[in-house]
Amino acid sequence: MTRLTVYDDNAPGVPVFSSESPSEVVPRLREINVGFERWNAPVHLAPDASSETILDAFRPFLDALMGATGAGSADVVQLTPEHPQAAALREKFLAEHTHSEPEIRFFVAGSGHFVLHENGKVYDILCEKDDLIQVPAGIKHWFDAGSKPSFTALRVFTDMSGWVAHYTGDIISTRFPVT
Ligand SMILES: [Fe+2]
Repeated sequence: MTRLTVYDDNAPGVPVFSSESPSEVVPRLREINVGFERWNAPVHLAPDASSETILDAFRPFLDALMGATGAGSADVVQLTPEHPQAAALREKFLAEHTHSEPEIRFFVAGSGHFVLHENGKVYDILCEKDDLIQVPAGIKHWFDAGSKPSFTALRVFTDMSGWVAHYTGDIISTRFPVT
């Protein structure tokens, strides 16, 4: 189940808000200009579907989204517990960072936590299959899918150089382990 848990950024383990209801999660995230929605896509993919097959299957949704955002390209990112670089990739995404373009992700399968750090609060968003999240440029955040990551996500980029992170050097993510 998709879930949003909010903390004060100096009080890990003490949620000030928690909800699994889209009608509560969406407006709460809108307060910090984060877009969240679910795509009810009538798409059934084999577990071993190729990136091209996945992109083709979601092409109508992607075209509509990219038209609305002015985005330029999309790709597929997939992590499994067996991925040889799973631990290294976890570290890369786990350190707090920002981007100079929006971070737009759609979860085709599996799940992962986008954790945002804004206005003195930490927003832990557990994203699952069919969830679309749009994090504006400049918001401090990190991503964690745990020590056994399992997800497939579409990534949408406006900048053709792809995923570029600006690390803040803050070790806050070590104080807010995802659950
Ligand atoms: Fe990011």
